[in-house]
Amino acid sequence: MSFKYVHGYTERESIRLEDQANCLSELLHYDSVFPENSVILEAGCGVGAQTRIVALKNPSSKFISIDISEDSLNKARSVVQSLNINNVEFQTGDIFDLKFPDECFDHIFICFVLEHLPSPSNALKALKRVLKKGGTITLIEGDHGSAYFYPYSEYAEKVINLQVKLQAMAGGNALIGRQLYPLLIEAGFKNCKVSPRMVYVDSSRPELVEGFTKNTFTAMIEGIREKAIEVSIIDKNTFDKGIQDLYRTTQVDGVFCYTFFKGVGYNV
Ligand SMILES: C[S@@+](CC[C@H](N)C(=O)[O-])C[C@H]1O[C@@H](n2cnc3c(N)ncnc32)[C@H](O)[C@@H]1O
Repeated sequence: MSFKYVHGYTERESIRLEDQANCLSELLHYDSVFPENSVILEAGCGVGAQTRIVALKNPSSKFISIDISEDSLNKARSVVQSLNINNVEFQTGDIFDLKFPDECFDHIFICFVLEHLPSPSNALKALKRVLKKGGTITLIEGDHGSAYFYPYSEYAEKVINLQVKLQAMAGGNALIGRQLYPLLIEAGFKNCKVSPRMVYVDSSRPELVEGFTKNTFTAMIEGIREKAIEVSIIDKNTFDKGIQDLYRTTQVDGVFCYTFFKGVGYNV
C-alpha cells in the first residue's frame, strides 16, 4: 500500500478530524439522510469523525465503514461504542481493492478522502462497481483555493499554497473540491449535483473561530511545518509568520472564508 497521508495519523490529527466534523456537522450533514434501511459503504472512515454523525442521522440504515489504517479503525470503534451507536460495522479495506460483490450497497459515502488519492477517478469507478443500480454516492471535499480572509497576508497565502504543494507531492490534490462534478461524470454517475458549502467565520461566531479557523484549518496548516521546512520549500520564519497571520484572522475584526463541496450522483 503506497498511500501517503499528508496529515499523518497522529493524536493531534485525530483531534483535528473530530473538531472539523463537529463544527461542520450542520453545514455538511443537514441533508445526509438516506432512504430507510439502506446499506451504506463509508469509504475511508478514518477515526469515525463523520461516521458517528451520519450513523446517528440514519438509525435504520446499516453502515459498513472501511479504512486502510487499523489504528484509525480502532479509534473509530471505540468512539462509536462509547456513543452506543450500533448500526456501524468497521472493516479493514482498500478502496482500490474492494472485497465486496458487485452492486451490493444502496449508498456510498466518502468524505475528505479523494483529496489524498493519486487517482480519485479510479477510486470512484471502483466504488461504483459495488453500488446497486439506482443507488447513490455522496462525496464531500474541501478546496484550499477557496480560502480567503481579512486582514490579507501574503505569508498566510504562502503557507496555504505550501499545503497544496506538499499534498500534490504526496500524490493528492488539495484543490479537488472544484473537480467533484467532472469526477462524478467521468466515473459514469448520472444526475449529478454539487452544492458549495461556505464556512464564513467572524468574531460574532466564536464557535467557528475556535472550531474551524483555529482548530480545523490553521491546525492543518501548522501540521505541515516540519515537513515543509524539511523539504526546504520555506524557511522557519516565513512559515511561522504565515501561521501567525492565519491566527490574526481570528481576532475581533478578522474574517475567514472557506468552501467545501458536496456532490451526489446516481448509478443508473
Ligand atoms: C482525511 S482522513 C478522513 C477520514 C474521515 N472520512 C473524516 O472525514 O474524518 C482520510 C482517510 O482515508 C483513508 N484512506 C486513504 N486511502 C485509502 C484507501 N485506498 N482505502 C481506504 N481508506 C483509505 C486514510 O487512512 C484516512 O483515514
